Amino acid sequence: MTVTPAIEADVLRHQDPELADVLLGERERQATTLQLIAAENFSSPAVLAALGSPLANKYAEGYPGARHHGGCEIVDVAERIAVDRAKALFGADHANVQSHSGSSAVLAAYAALLRPGDTVLALGLPYGGHLTHGSPANFSGRWFDFVGYGVEAESGLVDHEQVRTLARMRRPKAIVCGSIAYPRHLDYAFFREVADEVGAYLIADAAHPIGLVAGGAAPSPVPYADIVCATTHKVLRGPRGGMILCRAELAERVDRAVFPFTQSGAQMHTIAAKAVAFGEAATPAFAVYAHQVVANARVLAARLADEGLVVTTGGTDTHLITADPAPLGVDGRTARGRLAAAGLVLDCCALPHGDARGLRLGTAAVTTQGMREGEMARIAKLLAGVLRGVTETVRAREEVRELAGGFPPYPR
Ligand SMILES: Cc1ncc(COP(=O)(O)O)c(C=O)c1O
Repeated sequence: MTVTPAIEADVLRHQDPELADVLLGERERQATTLQLIAAENFSSPAVLAALGSPLANKYAEGYPGARHHGGCEIVDVAERIAVDRAKALFGADHANVQSHSGSSAVLAAYAALLRPGDTVLALGLPYGGHLTHGSPANFSGRWFDFVGYGVEAESGLVDHEQVRTLARMRRPKAIVCGSIAYPRHLDYAFFREVADEVGAYLIADAAHPIGLVAGGAAPSPVPYADIVCATTHKVLRGPRGGMILCRAELAERVDRAVFPFTQSGAQMHTIAAKAVAFGEAATPAFAVYAHQVVANARVLAARLADEGLVVTTGGTDTHLITADPAPLGVDGRTARGRLAAAGLVLDCCALPHGDARGLRLGTAAVTTQGMREGEMARIAKLLAGVLRGVTETVRAREEVRELAGGFPPYPR
């Protein structure tokens, strides 16, 4: 059985037309604009079917075989499948698939390894660190003593010397590697070496690259990190949620950090959908997809540079690109608004070493739609045309609609 968003909306239409309109409106928006937000993707109809299933009704605090609620025999099977598939996919000793989100996974990783007040070394927020890597507005910045490392001014690459120096000076309890905007592979072996030198845990926050890791298109942090946190909804193409992988020795601490320390009822429909996504990600087709995501991002980055944008680090190894549109006469925030009006949906982001905002783009969603290098070149041209003001918004919007129309994310 396949359930598409259209069918879900049809079910709702009779009972709640107001909400049916919202579902249909969002489906239309996603199908007629281009989703270039680096953190987004289109889950398969099978993933959406699990999400919209009666498993959503089930309360299941605890872990398979040890629940605080009755009637969990069947959802236990779903969780065991999800755990086994995650372990096999990533070659991990242990997987916890209950985290409700990437942030919850990071919270649980800290809870498993740290005490309030401990020092943690992580990529600073201005350089692409996530909120959970020490933002003063987030629990992480309030409860721990975060020290930020940065990127080199010239290359935009992680400043390894600074990481080593800060680690030696501050003796952190944990080092975090991972980012919302770093377009290159991280050198996990380097971070492991520094962590070992100063006696720190290594936490890899692989929320972004984990899907590429699954498809063999990016190096895996699993052999190096004590704990790997991830999201399941980015390149991995699963449901919105989180996941934790770790070594066998930490399994019990991680599980207790998720439940009962930071969460109670597991969301069994989401866990079943994660299992479906892990199954899909283990196929040869997904490996082809993951490599195409990177190939597309490389072409998009190169064409944006040809158009005059300053691409951070000069390109990308991943699905993610950050770029400064200033040479086209526009800052990132203004650019995002103009591009949104044309149907090119992306984020703005902090740019290392400067106050101006840049643009952050990703190729996961457009690649799921079946777009290839030719379409990336077309998107770069369109984007630059809009920003330079040589392509009228209405004309660009029409071209985006026509391009997106050729690659529907879901069967009609
Ligand atoms: C590096 C990193 N960590 C954590 C998260 C948090 O994920 P969520 O939005 O699911 O809480 C993100 C989200 O983009 C991320 O990029």
